[in-house]
Amino acid sequence: MAPGASLKHIACIMDGNGRWAQNRGLDRTHGHLAARSAFEAIVEGALDEGVEWLTLFAFSTENWSRPEEEVTFLVDFLAERVIGRGMSHMHERGVRLRLLGWEDPRIPADVMDRMREAEELTRENSELQLILAFNYGGRRDLCETVRSLVSRSVAVEEISTETFAQHMALPELPDVDLLLRTGGEHRISNFLLWHCAYAELIFLDVLWPDFRTQHFQHALELYRQRQRRFGTLVPGSAPSPGHPADDGTTWPAATGHPAQPGRATLLGLPTTIASHLGASLLNGLKETARLALLQLSEDAGRTRRPEQWR
Ligand code: IPE
Ligand code: IPE
Ligand code: MG
Repeated sequence: MAPGASLKHIACIMDGNGRWAQNRGLDRTHGHLAARSAFEAIVEGALDEGVEWLTLFAFSTENWSRPEEEVTFLVDFLAERVIGRGMSHMHERGVRLRLLGWEDPRIPADVMDRMREAEELTRENSELQLILAFNYGGRRDLCETVRSLVSRSVAVEEISTETFAQHMALPELPDVDLLLRTGGEHRISNFLLWHCAYAELIFLDVLWPDFRTQHFQHALELYRQRQRRFGTLVPGSAPSPGHPADDGTTWPAATGHPAQPGRATLLGLPTTIASHLGASLLNGLKETARLALLQLSEDAGRTRRPEQWR
């Protein structure tokens, strides 16, 4: 990562398995089967980048409404292929696996047992906290938190964002820095609603079974171009009277990056465009045009009056 560009927690909505299979004339379940390499790619990518937390959305509270055969397949597949067979390798790599979600009578006892065994096996690992969101929903997480606060009779005046977070399903789970979704849909689908309050959202067109290290790297590259402000102003960046120019793109990045792209960034754009080709050529071209315009306006030393609320 670039210096100062903190990336502690990546969350991923692994989407597109069904379409991947249907594009090949196969049953949807083949898409879930084919997702194994993608899962390995993102875990390895996170390990290589030194990311501390990786949360993967494996099964939502809404996914129970899918046909019974698909639900049964998904639950068994996760327990056997992902957790069962893949666990020893992940254990060797220092990955700690934890489940985020709720037990449910529809989850077979042996599946639950395997998941708990994997949690137990990897309990002491600390290279990467791998959180598998299974039977998870953001709204339910919020509701359960309120229930917990009420049932423990927490006084109204003690309720703050900090105490609220302490009563959530996984209190240690940090805010999400980067929320990545594959499969081309631009929505959160009831994932980590609380934790994504200030997440950078990155949507890739690649279908999850096709996701590989280069897609992960591409997502990081897009993330590094973002300016995180958290509602505040970066010290020293407030426009002076008569020289206001906040159009959302020109102030220094909260992460320590220069606000406007330097020439090196512009020269690196062919690589950016190339990596977009597999996902979204159009976005790459738009980004090029935007950065080039910014550079031109910087060169011209142009100033302009701010947009006013009318
Ligand atoms: C994601 O792929 C897997 C889960 C939701 C469990 P989908 O099964 O949603 O695939 P698409 O979106 O229908 O292609
Ligand atoms: C989100 O994908 C849930 C998981 C990836 C586990 P969905 O495919 O269920 O989301 P929607 O239905 O398109 O919003
Ligand atoms: Mg889907």
